[in-house]
Amino acid sequence: MDIQPARGKLAVLLPGLGAVATTFIAGVMLARRGIGVPVGSLSQLGTIRLGKRDEAKTPKISDALPIAKLDQLEFGAWDLFEDDAYASAKHANVLKPEHLEAIKEELLQIKPMKAVFYPEFVKRLHGTHVKTGPTKADMVEQLRADIRNFIRDKGCDRAVAVWCGSTEIYTEPTAPHATIKTFERALVDSHPAITNSQMYAWALLKEKVPFANGSPNVALDFPAARELARLNEVPICGKDFKTGQTLMKTIIAPGLKARMIGIRGWYSTNILGNRDGEVLDDPDSFRAKEVSKLGVLESVLKPKEHPELYGNITHKIRIDYYPPRGDDKEGWDNIDIFGWMGYPMQMKIDFLCRDSILAAPIVLDLALFIDLAHRAGMRDTQEWLGFYFKSPMALTEREPDHDLFLQLKTLKNTLRWMLGGEAINELGADYYE
Ligand SMILES: NC(=O)c1ccc[n+]([C@@H]2O[C@H](COP(=O)([O-])OP(=O)(O)OC[C@H]3O[C@@H](n4cnc5c(N)ncnc54)[C@H](O)[C@@H]3O)[C@@H](O)[C@H]2O)c1
Repeated sequence: MDIQPARGKLAVLLPGLGAVATTFIAGVMLARRGIGVPVGSLSQLGTIRLGKRDEAKTPKISDALPIAKLDQLEFGAWDLFEDDAYASAKHANVLKPEHLEAIKEELLQIKPMKAVFYPEFVKRLHGTHVKTGPTKADMVEQLRADIRNFIRDKGCDRAVAVWCGSTEIYTEPTAPHATIKTFERALVDSHPAITNSQMYAWALLKEKVPFANGSPNVALDFPAARELARLNEVPICGKDFKTGQTLMKTIIAPGLKARMIGIRGWYSTNILGNRDGEVLDDPDSFRAKEVSKLGVLESVLKPKEHPELYGNITHKIRIDYYPPRGDDKEGWDNIDIFGWMGYPMQMKIDFLCRDSILAAPIVLDLALFIDLAHRAGMRDTQEWLGFYFKSPMALTEREPDHDLFLQLKTLKNTLRWMLGGEAINELGADYYE
């Protein structure tokens, strides 16, 4: 496969300069200076086996593939609060002062551009650093100008974007979302069904900027956006970063299923106290999150194929906003399982995780991989990046895989395919040839 080289600077544009975005940016800056290690990032620490096992050829992914280097990244963002990346990172209170102080000057330089923000989609936030304009079409034009100006002013070769903005209220695509034509008409009419994140998506796709959606928002998965991504040959992916509890679910459920252990119920509850938690305190935003989290178990366990094991599961999810915890989330899972002859057992998981610490490496990998995909001529939905999402977008009606290990295999086999190598099967027969 012919992949264009990763020359020059890569603009990484982030709608939303909150906890996740600033933890990501600060982490990259620290890693560049050798102060921190980008733990959790496959693109930086992962390896890939090429060829047969006895060839012992397992380079780092970053050495095997022409992905952009950390030094080549240039960060830009939009937010409805004026705080620069330093102030926002301090407010988020994820990284320690000694980390933030080491890169303070660099963080101060990152000032958000004015947001496109219609408050009806995120009811708990009230910011003033917002664009004004007569129509939603005009908002898209302003975003397009921001993108072009940023690339020009910072001397970048190209750009990618990762949505790190808040979770919007739950919406579903409507008639205006059907085609490019209907969507553009609806933008001119400022149709109420067009959300903030959809306006960003439209501007990015128009500017041929690959876009990954880290929230559960329906920013990209509607027919008009897919049509535009194909037409403009832009790779897209989403949605909702797979961190915390859902990450654990997609590690543990495939393990139980592998051993044909039955499951009767899975009760998950979380407390978190960051701004994301505050937004999710609004039932309409929580609904968007719930929908994105609920599909996971059914997809992994395939109850139709295994009715005796998974045909009657009660799956409940709760998220409570609890300010004292800040970004240090705690997730409890109670899993009611059963074994041989139906004898019941239980598992309890108490995961004291740090939300943004788990999300930051995902932002980095998505930015680098979606740029790679673009330079490799790939477009539309990148199923192979489903590894990173709670609710992976799929190219067809086919139910996407949620099993983390299947997702990893797909990701690595896609990288092998880009390198012109063969997909790996685990048959082991190659040993005996
Ligand atoms: N941290 C995780 O583990 C995790 C996991 C999955 C998904 N997410 C999602 O990632 C997103 C970011 O999470 P966070 O913890 O950084 O939240 P946060 O509240 O700290 O940051 C979100 C930022 O987006 C801004 N924003 C909202 N609407 C905007 C708009 N229209 N334009 C520009 N900026 C806008 C807000 O002002 C805020 O600063 C959320 O949607 C969250 O649900 C996070």
